[in-house]
Amino acid sequence: MFTVDLRSDTVTRPSDAMKKAMIESPVGDDVLGDDPTVMRLESVMAERFGMDGSLFCVSGTQANQIALMSHLSPGDEVICHPYAHIYNYEGGGIAANAHASVAFTGDDRGIMHPEGVLSCLKADDIHFPKSRVLAVENTSNKGGGTCYEWEEIEALRAVASKSGLLFHLDGARLYNALIAKNHSESDYGAAFDSISICLSKGLGAPVGSILLGNEAFIAHAKRIRKRIGGGWRQAGFLAGAALYAMEHNVERLAIDHAAASDMAVFLQSLPYISTVISPETNVLIFALNEDLNQGRFIADLAEKGIGISQMGPGKCRMVFHLDITEAHIKKVKSALSSF
Ligand SMILES: Cc1ncc(COP(=O)(O)O)c(C=O)c1O
Repeated sequence: MFTVDLRSDTVTRPSDAMKKAMIESPVGDDVLGDDPTVMRLESVMAERFGMDGSLFCVSGTQANQIALMSHLSPGDEVICHPYAHIYNYEGGGIAANAHASVAFTGDDRGIMHPEGVLSCLKADDIHFPKSRVLAVENTSNKGGGTCYEWEEIEALRAVASKSGLLFHLDGARLYNALIAKNHSESDYGAAFDSISICLSKGLGAPVGSILLGNEAFIAHAKRIRKRIGGGWRQAGFLAGAALYAMEHNVERLAIDHAAASDMAVFLQSLPYISTVISPETNVLIFALNEDLNQGRFIADLAEKGIGISQMGPGKCRMVFHLDITEAHIKKVKSALSSF
């Protein structure tokens, strides 16, 4: 158990106020379509994004995979970034669930660009997979919490429309991007065919993600969610936490972004750190000098009660969230200084 847990923003615990909201949430049977809190969450989210509807799902992975299963037929292709969560960290779900293939493009910040997408498009020829979905991740987790500029989203939307691609957003941390860039939910709702958003990361709910789209997509998504065992009954207790998170924990994400930036400056002053990716949101990725063993470094911090994670060979990750206090940050800096 860590006293300062920077491994991920998924580790947040519901506050007492959130727990109270959960316990007080009226519930019904969501599979039968009468859980009032789930219904409220789904309509609040659809309204915020100006989309027809939304579906409350167990996880970000489930929401992404349902979207891909809904959009893709066997033999189709998804164009995504080589860092994409849908490709790297969803158990091979693109292949196992959607029976689809993948084409990659993007820069080392986790950002995709129109010319790269165009170069991934396959000609309409029986030898090739059918290019069908363009999937963007904002913020990019493996890219270091990086965000798209609005013009970049618009340019990708234009390529998707021109090329007949469905445009999916893995917005596990979309609210971090919205806060960092001052972008609007409704602009995103108008640009994408489907959007997944995690309520259980920086927003602090214990469980749950939302999947947004048009009426036909949500009806199809609901059928797929049921088929894979994702129909849940008195899910209103969890939807109550999600509604609480949306009301209380969105604006404060800026605090996490500031904490990540402050720690980045501190890391840059340490002689044994070789690179620090300048954080745009709450994810901070850095690399150690080659002579320092990464496993040992992470284990030594763990012994001091500080959890950080590995992000591929040579890279470490800290993620800032609402359970991290100023005292925690002091403790981390002091541990890092004594290394
Ligand atoms: C970008 C991104 N997408 C999707 C997910 C999946 O979310 P979950 O852990 O709820 O399945 C994550 C989780 O870290 C993520 O970082």
